[in-house]
Amino acid sequence: CGIVGYVGGKQAQQVVVDGLARLEYRGYDSAGLALVVDGKLATAKKAGKLVNLRKALEEEPPPASTIGLGHTRWATHGVPNDPNAHPHVDCGGRVAVIHNGIIENFAALKADLLEGGHVFGSDTDTEVVAHLLEDEVGAGRDLPEAMRRVCRRLEGAYTLVAVDAQDPDVVVGARRNSPLVVGRGDGENFLASDVAAFIEHTRDAIELGQDQVVELRRDGVTVTDYEGRPAEVHEYHVDWDVSAAEKGGYDYFMLKEIAEQPRAVADTLLGRIGSDGRLHLDEMRITDQQLREIDKIIIIACGTSYHAGLIAKYAIEHWAGLPCEVEVASEFRYRDPILTRSTLVIAISQSGESMDTLMAVRHAREQKARVLCICNVNGSTMPRECDGVLYTHAGPEVGVAATKTFLTQLVAVYLIALYIAQVRGTKWGDEVFAMVQLLATMPEKVEKVLETMEPVRELARSLAGERSVLFLGRHVGFPVALEGALKLKELAYMHAEGFAAGELKHGPIALIEEGLPVIVVVPPRAREVLHDKIVSNIQEIRARGARTIVIAEEGDDTVVPYSDTLIEVPAVPTLLQPLVATVPLQVFSCELATAKGHDVDQPRNLAKSVTVE
Ligand code: G6P
Repeated sequence: CGIVGYVGGKQAQQVVVDGLARLEYRGYDSAGLALVVDGKLATAKKAGKLVNLRKALEEEPPPASTIGLGHTRWATHGVPNDPNAHPHVDCGGRVAVIHNGIIENFAALKADLLEGGHVFGSDTDTEVVAHLLEDEVGAGRDLPEAMRRVCRRLEGAYTLVAVDAQDPDVVVGARRNSPLVVGRGDGENFLASDVAAFIEHTRDAIELGQDQVVELRRDGVTVTDYEGRPAEVHEYHVDWDVSAAEKGGYDYFMLKEIAEQPRAVADTLLGRIGSDGRLHLDEMRITDQQLREIDKIIIIACGTSYHAGLIAKYAIEHWAGLPCEVEVASEFRYRDPILTRSTLVIAISQSGESMDTLMAVRHAREQKARVLCICNVNGSTMPRECDGVLYTHAGPEVGVAATKTFLTQLVAVYLIALYIAQVRGTKWGDEVFAMVQLLATMPEKVEKVLETMEPVRELARSLAGERSVLFLGRHVGFPVALEGALKLKELAYMHAEGFAAGELKHGPIALIEEGLPVIVVVPPRAREVLHDKIVSNIQEIRARGARTIVIAEEGDDTVVPYSDTLIEVPAVPTLLQPLVATVPLQVFSCELATAKGHDVDQPRNLAKSVTVE
C-alpha cells in the first residue's frame, strides 16, 4: 500500500492526491484521504484506482485544509470496496488512520473493542487502530502519545499514519517493518512510503527506523521509540529528481523503464571497475577476509528477483567456484536450512521490503549467517538489516513488472561473482578479468537490442489473440524463459510457462499443438553442446506444429531453417546473455498486453512491493 501524510501551508488535498499518484504502483485496489477541517474530519474513499477518488473529489470537493493523509491500497483483509478503503475512522469521527501491513492480533483486539461498545464499519484489521486511538485521545492523551501506547499493543507488520480532528497541527506516523520516510520542507513536512510521493516538494529526507513514532508538525519533526525516548534517525538527500518519477513522454512507465536500461546498467557499473581493470566493491560492507571464509552461498528472493538469483547461481558456481543454492524466500525459512558463519546469504530485492525476503533475511541472521543484499532503494529495510549491501542504480521503477531493476540485479550478481573470484583467486583468472571488461560494454549491447525491437512489437500484436505461450531455455536461458513467462502472465493475463528445454521430453512436449507459440532462448554457438541440443529441441517442437520464435545471437545461421520468427541479439558470452536476451521478452509482453488493452503499469491484482507475507 502507499501512504502519504502532509502538514504545511499548501492545500493538503492536492499534495496528498499528487503524492498518491506517485505511489499508486504500491497498490491500486482503492484510494482515500482524510483532511482536518475546523475540528472535524473530511474523508473521501473509493474502490478502484486513484482516478475514482479524483472524480469523487471533483464532484464533492472537500473544504480547504492544510493537513491530511491519504492511502492507496493493495487489499489483504477485506475485499477492495468503498468501506474497506482507507482511511478508517473511529465511532466518533475524531481519528483517521491509514495503514500498510497486517495487524496480526487484530481479531483479539477487535473482540475487546466490540465488548467495550465500539461499532465497526469495515472488515479491515486497520479499523481496530482507529478505535484504539479513539480510546487513548478520549482519555486526554495527545495523538503522538496515543500512537505510542497503541503500537505497544499491536503485533505484525505495519506503517500507520493518523490525524486527530481536534489537533490541526500534527500528523503522527509509526513504523514497524513496512517503509515510512519523512520529507523535510520549509514550513511543511511530509510522510510517505516512498520519497517519490514528495520529491517535487523536497529532496531532504529522514529514514525512520524500526519501531519508531514520528510527530510531524509544520515547523518540525520529532522521532521517538514506542516508549517516547528520542530516537536516532538517518537524514539524507535524495539524489534523483522529479523527472525520474514521471513518464517523460512515454505512454507507460514500463516503456520508459525498458528504454532506460542501458543507462541503468551503466550506472550500476559506474565506479565499480577500476582503471586497473579490477573490481572495487569496498562499499559492500563485507570484507575480503570474510569473503575468503565463505564455503557456501544461498540466494533468497521473490518474483523477478528470484530469477536474477537463478542466473546468479550459474555465475557464482562458475567464476567464484562456490556451491550456491537459490530458493524462493517464502519457502526458505519454513524448512531447516543449514547455515553457518561461513555461509553467505544473498537477498535480492529491488524494493528492499518484500516481506517474505525480509523474514528470510532475519531468519538467516538469527542462524548467524552473513547476509548481503542487492537492493535498488536506498535506506530501505533490507540494507539496514543486512550485514552488507550492493546497491543497483536503476533509479526509481514505477511499473509494477520489474524491468530495469532486473537487468541491474543481473549486473550486481555478476559483479559479486566476479569480485569473489578476484578476492579468492580462481582457475578462471583470465576469464574473470576479460569478463569485467565485457561487462563494461553491456550498456551498448542492451541499447542495440532496443534499437531492433520493432519486429518483436509486431509479433506481439499478432499474438494478442493466443491463449497460451511457452518459453524454453537451457543454462542461464532457463531463468530467462521463466522471466519471459512471468512477464506475460503479469501483464497479458495469459497462460505462459517457462521450461528447461531438456525437460521438454519429460512432459511439456505434450502441450505442443498446431500453431502454439513457443519462444526459445538459444545459447551462444560458443557453447556448442548446449547450443546444438536446443536446436534439436526446436526441431522437435516444430515437427509437432509449434510456431517457433527463436532468440539467438546474431549470425547464428543454424537456427534459421527452424525459426518461424528469429529475434537476433548481440553476441555475448553465455553467462552474460540474459542481459540481452531478456529485453525482447520484456518488449514482447508489454506490447502484447497493451494490444489487449491492459494497463501495463498496474496489472490487475498485483502490487510492486508486497509488504505482507
Ligand atoms: C512483486 C512484484 C515483482 C517483484 C517481486 C519481488 O511480486 O510484482 O515485480 O519481482 O515483488 O520484489 P522485490 O522488491 O523483492 O524485488
